Amino acid sequence: MNQDIAKVLLSEDEISEIINRLSSEVTKDYKNKNLCLLCVLKGSLIFCADLMRRLDFPVELICISASSYKNATVSSGNVEINSLTDNITGKDVLIIEDILDTGNTLSNLIKYLKELSPASVEICTILDKPSRRVKDISAKYVGSVIPDEFVVGYGLDYNQRYRNLPYIGILKPEIYNN
Ligand code: XMP
Ligand code: MG
Repeated sequence: MNQDIAKVLLSEDEISEIINRLSSEVTKDYKNKNLCLLCVLKGSLIFCADLMRRLDFPVELICISASSYKNATVSSGNVEINSLTDNITGKDVLIIEDILDTGNTLSNLIKYLKELSPASVEICTILDKPSRRVKDISAKYVGSVIPDEFVVGYGLDYNQRYRNLPYIGILKPEIYNN
């Protein structure tokens, strides 16, 4: 295990079981629809890549960057979203997110997407941290509900590091308190 990780929250095997379950749920709901996966970069890259390879029906993939400026590990509430060049009008958009925390990022993103007239917009997040929510928002598909700890790995970073860990772990507080 990486020496900066205090505890593994989800192992590779547990993540794999989550992907199996989520892909079945998404397949059941979307196999006869116009599914457009919207990968929120960069944190959701690995989750989206794993999930979409378990979907055995036609799907479209688009990517968007959304970042909430942070000091250290706390979301500031200011969210920057890059404009989409892909057309989502009339499509069933499923936002693929790494973590739903305060809800600032996704509530801003959904507001932006709705202006582009998709047929529907739903959220699929691998992690949900409901204890810190400030916006009235929830995900249709949730991999795992987690406690209020700062986690990294499987795409999630601290200062752009740890994204390549194959598991999701709690970062030692001394790493971000220094
Ligand atoms: P909000 O608060 O807007 O946060 O719902 C969503 C974005 O904040 C990042 N985030 C985290 N990143 N470990 C991380 O590596 C965490 O524990 C964590 N909590 C929030 C993440 O980019 C997410 O998309
Ligand atoms: Mg993110």
